[in-house]
Amino acid sequence: MVVIRVKPAFLTLLILFTHTTSSQLTNPNPTPTPWPEQFHSIIFMTTNGTKYQKVDLWYDWPNGRNFNIIQSQLGKLLYDLEWTNGTSFYYTLDSNKECRVMHFPVGILAPDWLHGATYVGQKNLDGFLCNVWEKVEFIIYYEDVVSKRPVSWTFYTGMSAHIMTFEVGKVLDDPNWQAPVYCFKNAAEQEKANDDKKRIGIAESVASMDGPYHGRLNMRSIAMNLTAAI
Ligand SMILES: *[C@@H]1O[C@H](CO)[C@@H](O)[C@H](O)[C@H]1NC(C)=O
Ligand SMILES: *[C@@H]1O[C@H](CO)[C@@H](O)[C@H](O)[C@H]1NC(C)=O
Ligand SMILES: *[C@@H]1O[C@H](CO)[C@@H](O)[C@H](O)[C@H]1NC(C)=O
Repeated sequence: MVVIRVKPAFLTLLILFTHTTSSQLTNPNPTPTPWPEQFHSIIFMTTNGTKYQKVDLWYDWPNGRNFNIIQSQLGKLLYDLEWTNGTSFYYTLDSNKECRVMHFPVGILAPDWLHGATYVGQKNLDGFLCNVWEKVEFIIYYEDVVSKRPVSWTFYTGMSAHIMTFEVGKVLDDPNWQAPVYCFKNAAEQEKANDDKKRIGIAESVASMDGPYHGRLNMRSIAMNLTAAI
């Protein structure tokens, strides 16, 4: 009995799988798979083979929040907590108690943030056959042809991300999303520090992504110089 039930199911799966795979391989103009609404990734970042960083990315669209926990090689552990109301907190949790609060005119990336990217074909990257899209002067994005998971992306600055893990549906517990108290103590002072050179530089690099090519695209955490942010 069991065998009779299993056989058609297996065949159906096989047909579906074969069908999906072949249509993915032959679709002349595929679109990037939207990001899952919630996931956790470990990402290795490098800029042309220098400035190595390990990033824990906690993407949480339904709760309007995005977290990058960034370990620079033999360096700082930096927390980059972004809220969709435009507030970002950059802080350390060491004895230096550094924190910078920033405000941006755009929220966090939407799951379909790659919508409108130009398909540029297939390429082997990091050992995976990928579909590749480009947003001119901003990003090149590589997605695994078969699993449709992101494999890598490279910013126009030369900074590239390599996706090491991709855990769909994994959410970081609420208490971890609380910026430390010294972020709020300094808030008033930071509001006044409008003449801060680095701060203006960061604001400009975000604003420039609001141009015709990028729509309201905002990758606050990455397009700016994170180490300069504190
Ligand atoms: C945005 O939301 C965060 C988290 O709730 C909060 O700490 C911050 O003050 C808010 N920013 C503004 C401008 O309301
Ligand atoms: C990284 O390499 C690219 C391509 O060679 C170059 O355009 C870019 O300026 C480099 N970036 C840095 C920060 O060296
Ligand atoms: C990052 O900083 C370097 C040197 O400080 C600068 O040349 C580069 O343009 C900055 N990148 C961005 C995206 O602002």
